[in-house]
Parts: sequence; C-alpha cells; structure tokens
Amino acid sequence: MLRSDQRIETCLCISDCQVTKVSEIMIQGFSQLSREEKIRIAAEYASQPVEFANVMFSHWLPEQRSDEIITEFTENTVSDFSLPYSLAPNFRINGKDYIVPMVTEESSVVAAASAAAKFWWSRGGFRTRIKGVMKPGHIHFFWTGTRKAIESFIAEINPGLLESVSTIGKSMKARGGGIVSISLKDMTSKLHGYFQIEAIFNTADAMGANFINTCLEAMAAYMEQQAKFREISADLDIIMAILSNYTPQCLVECEVNCPIGETTLFRRIEKAVLIARYDMSRAVTHNKGIFNGVDAVILATGNDFRAVEAAGHAWASRDGSYKGLSKADIEDDQFTLSLEMPIPIGVVGGMTTLHPLAKASLQLLGNPSSETLMSVVAATGLANHFSALKALVSGGIQQGHMKLHLVNILAQLNANMKEKEEAVRYFEHRYISVPEVQNFLIRLRGL
Ligand code: MEV
Repeated sequence: MLRSDQRIETCLCISDCQVTKVSEIMIQGFSQLSREEKIRIAAEYASQPVEFANVMFSHWLPEQRSDEIITEFTENTVSDFSLPYSLAPNFRINGKDYIVPMVTEESSVVAAASAAAKFWWSRGGFRTRIKGVMKPGHIHFFWTGTRKAIESFIAEINPGLLESVSTIGKSMKARGGGIVSISLKDMTSKLHGYFQIEAIFNTADAMGANFINTCLEAMAAYMEQQAKFREISADLDIIMAILSNYTPQCLVECEVNCPIGETTLFRRIEKAVLIARYDMSRAVTHNKGIFNGVDAVILATGNDFRAVEAAGHAWASRDGSYKGLSKADIEDDQFTLSLEMPIPIGVVGGMTTLHPLAKASLQLLGNPSSETLMSVVAATGLANHFSALKALVSGGIQQGHMKLHLVNILAQLNANMKEKEEAVRYFEHRYISVPEVQNFLIRLRGL
C-alpha cells in the first residue's frame, strides 16, 4: 500500500499533464487534467483500482449522445451516473390527463404513484391551487447607526436600488417577472445591529436562482456605493446578498376527495395523518413518503431537488415544531386528503431545457408553465403519500416492496422469464432475500 504522498507522486508520474504544483498531501491542478488522467489518479485511491477505472470508462456515455452538454454541467466529470427514468400513467390533474416522468432509485415508488393515480382517476383526480409564486432574497447587513437613520437611507435609495437592476431584469420583465417589492427588516431583537433588505421576486417561468442572486449582488454594491457617497459607510457592514430557499410565498395546495363508503380505510388514514401532526419522528417519515414522488418529478424535469426539499422541510416546521405536510379530513362521509407545500421550480433556464431528458419530460407534460409543473409535482407527491398510507394502515408496506425486491434480485441473478415466473409463485408467501433466491435458482436449475 502506498502512502498518500507517494501515491500522488506515482500517479502524476504516469501523466504528462500540466499540473502546476503538487504538495506533499494535496493534489493541485486536478481540474486541468484530462479525464483519463483524473480516472488514473482516482483509481489509486480506490480499493479495486482496475475495477474502478473500468467502471468509470464503461459508464461514460457521450458516444451515445449527440452533444457534450451534460459533461459540462459540473467540474471534474469523469463518468455518467444513470438512474431509471420511469413513467407513471393515469394522472388526472385539474381535469387534464398526464403521464408523469419520474426519476428515482427506489423500487416501488413509481408503482405506488401509478396505483394511486389510477385509484383517483375515476374519483375526480387531483385538484390543485397555486397560492403564490413569489421568491424572496436578502441583503444581510449590520448597522451601527440609529434605526431612524437606516430607515431614511433605505427610503432614499429605494428607487436607485430598483434602477441598479434594470438592465439585468430586462428579459425577466419582458416575461412578466421582476422585483415585486423591497423592504427593510429590523432583526435587531434577534441579533444586535442586524438588518435585512428583503426583496421579493417574481421569476416568471424560471426557478430564477441566478437572476435573484445577480440582482441582490448588484443592489448590495449600489447600497455600499451610496453609503460611501453619503459618508455613512462606517456604520454599514454588508455581510452577504443571497436568495432564500425558504419560499412560503411559492406555494401549492393539492387534494383528492371521495365518499368513504363501507371501508375503514379512510378513517385509518385520517388517524395516520393525525399521528404525523403530533409525533415528529413519524412526521419525518410521513413527509419522506411525499418527497418520494416530489423529488422524482423534480429530477426528471431537471429542477433543483435540494431547494424543494429545504423549502418543504422548513415549511413543515413553520409553527416551531416539525409536522406532516398533509391533512386528512372526513366530513359528511367525504374523505379529503390534502397537501400544501412550497415548490420553487422552473420550466426555463438551468438544466430544464439543457438536459435532453429534462426537456423530453417537459414535452411529455405538454410544455407546462411553472405553475402547472408545481401542480404535477404536488399531485405526484400526494399520490405516493396516499399509496404509502394505504399500505401502512392495511397490510404494511413490505408485501409490495418485497415483490419488487424479488424482481430486482432475479434480474441481478440473470434469471430467465420461466425462472422468474416460478420464483414469483414460490416466494408469494415466503421470506425473500438474496441467498434464499439464489438457493431457489440453484435448486430449479438442478445445479
Ligand atoms: C418509504 O420510502 C416511504 C414510507 O416510509 C412513507 C411513509 O411511511 O409514510 C412508506
């Protein structure tokens, strides 16, 4: 085994790249190396170097693509990482039918979404309401002068702040977006001397992170320049200018509803949802089931799932304790399951139009507006949530899970169609695990 410093030197010896400087323990100039050289260096860190390098090379897909765009999304790209791209049919959302694209690694998520979509299709489908599409951003700063002085400074520079972003915002304005409001927020009760400029943005059909951050940085520079001009810079310390991923004004509500009939199912689901309002441990898992559907559509459409997760979990804790994002209610023998959550996404800009699969997803959904996509995402989240609750309060989730697990194991063990059919029959009421399935196939093949 090589020491890490030896290892690096050895690796760099085998290449004739333009590495600028290599210290004893740090790799320098890695980003300038060729892909092959990066893989060769990384392989030295791997437990199975040859296998690692082979996997990197064999999973590299540009030859199968017509462009190099995906490679350029991030730095130091050496291979491709594929996830299944799946379709969930029969989503009726606000009276319109959709086949929903989903990207997820978790077996049973697509089956669960499809089953729920089918269940609700004949019961009126999913209904959604967009409660807002605004996104906030802040200039965070400290002020040592009086409150009156900062108030009049901000009031005076307000028109100039807007003017400072007029060029940046031109095309956004043409699409109906832009800055909706600018206000001063006094945060001194929480932290001595701390204030914010809060700007509210309408980013039209874009997620808008770059637009918001560019505007905020330009406004912060203008604010600094004005403070200098008025000789009050000594009182002002701008710390940062950044969007907030907490987007409670970019909100969608989604619900399904049907008569409860004779079954106890809906009353049990109502209780399960209530539990997630009172127990945080359960609420986290409850919400994870919602995000199973939400994230899969967010990924399939090239949106930022971390932003949606962060906003959703903050929203779930908005009254001080973390709660389930859904509500269930039975009134006059009518069951309603609903979900309200922020979904800050876009359909133009970023990966949404650059990634061929994201673009295809949007085409599949009829090139929706960002509001329609918010509805589709929320409906898929609610669909997965409903399937999870239905299974949990009936026989449990393992039955369905294990069936799909069996399919995966059989594929992994190269079972043919006939062997798969026999295995499904054999394991219907038996415990499923890799060794059990392996032994079954050995017996079946008479080995
Ligand atoms: C599993 O991915 C998701 C569930 O745990 C969600 C839930 O418990 O509500 C089944």
